[in-house]
Amino acid sequence: MKLKLSPSMMCCDFFRLQEQVEAFERAKVELLHIDVMDGNFVPNIALGTDFIRQLKQRTNIPLDLHLMVEEPGRLLDSFAFGEGDYVSVHFETAKHLQRVLQAVRDRGAKPLLALNPGTPVEFAAEVLDDVDGLLLMTVNPGFAGQKMVPHSLAKIAHARAWLDGNGRTDAEIEVDGNVSLKNAVLMKEAGANIFVAGTSGVFLGGDLAANVENFRKTVFA
Ligand code: DX5
Ligand code: ZN
Repeated sequence: MKLKLSPSMMCCDFFRLQEQVEAFERAKVELLHIDVMDGNFVPNIALGTDFIRQLKQRTNIPLDLHLMVEEPGRLLDSFAFGEGDYVSVHFETAKHLQRVLQAVRDRGAKPLLALNPGTPVEFAAEVLDDVDGLLLMTVNPGFAGQKMVPHSLAKIAHARAWLDGNGRTDAEIEVDGNVSLKNAVLMKEAGANIFVAGTSGVFLGGDLAANVENFRKTVFA
């Protein structure tokens, strides 16, 4: 499975946004992770519709939207995404989960089912045909800079085996939260292939493109 890096845009220095997006373009990251937080599902408010629209116009890097909002179905039309973009919908947020995942796919994007640390992998069973993979939260969502929930590595390995056992060897596993170089190596061994890199992955100060290069060398080698 192709390994992909998805820098977490909420960790950008917003006063240097253009320079940082250009660094990601030069470093050829596969995706840009965008945390949308509504202050309701999670106790924080982050990136919104206008930011996403402008980013979509400015860059050709596919977007990786992570919707941490209650009832995301009612907001889907407000977000700029399409062919080649990823959209993660939390199991915990949608009463009509299958409908929302289908609506993402109808727009040509790749739907992922996002699961909080406390939500079992098996809860994906009834929508397995409707997703391109899972986004496993390795921290409780809401804030950058947290420590990985220890059970996460076992959960990633279990998810990989469960997906494979259900005929979905093609399903991707994205991991989000405290994806440091050290944790990412273990997450990769457990079966993850998309890595959200935030304050512990690439926003470490210094040269951003060099940090991306270092992440790739250390984790993807
Ligand atoms: C957590 C966010 C993550 C976070 C990752 O709710 O979804 O994207 O920014 O960054 P670090 O590396 O700080 O955990
Ligand atoms: Zn996220």
